[in-house]
Amino acid sequence: MTATTTTGGAPLIVGLGGTLRANSSTERALRYCLASVERQGGQTRLFSAEDLDLPMYAPHELERTPKALELVGALRGADAVVVGSPGYHGAVSGLVKNALDYIEDLREDPRVYLDNTPWGCISCAYGWQAAVGTLGQLRSIGHALRAWPTPLGVAINSADEIWDSEGQVADPAVRNQLDMLAAQVLAFARTAWETA
Ligand SMILES: Cc1cc2nc3c(=O)[nH]c(=O)nc-3n(C[C@H](O)[C@H](O)[C@H](O)COP(=O)(O)O)c2cc1C
Repeated sequence: MTATTTTGGAPLIVGLGGTLRANSSTERALRYCLASVERQGGQTRLFSAEDLDLPMYAPHELERTPKALELVGALRGADAVVVGSPGYHGAVSGLVKNALDYIEDLREDPRVYLDNTPWGCISCAYGWQAAVGTLGQLRSIGHALRAWPTPLGVAINSADEIWDSEGQVADPAVRNQLDMLAAQVLAFARTAWETA
């Protein structure tokens, strides 16, 4: 499901991530962070679940599905990006990585890839090793795309009691970290505007 909010004149933060399981824990963490961005004055757009179910990225293939065009177009207009991945076998999931590979379509843009764009990272895994490892990989991908990973990244250990009975983020420390992540991508985005 794609969520769009337009408040006009506010930085646009694009969220990308989750799993094909609708409302996965990764998606819920990402949604919490984007809602926090909106509370702090930003506008957001979320690509999750079916939005990310794209053909495998093929560099020589120039045809793009409507969903791929939508994603690339939103990333082209993003003032900041927040990416969320589960840890699958210790690493970024194939679904999320494949969607991120489509950023290659921005290589010849005036803003090459995500040059100077704030890049927030969230990982969820059923243990710290995969959560922290995956977070590091997301940060490395941001560097490769010329983006600015924020100082704070959020690694969530889903084996802890993070979620309430309705699946919302209940742990105060995790909520606080996701709020801080939202504040950092917004602060970086506003700084980038001011210095452009
Ligand atoms: C294919 C697969 C591989 C996984 N590999 C790991 C792993 O290596 N380490 C780990 O801690 N959790 C692993 N998990 C658990 C997920 O990281 C965990 O459920 C996480 O909270 C993401 O869940 P979500 O689908 O609710 O977003 C794996 C789950 C799946 C489906």
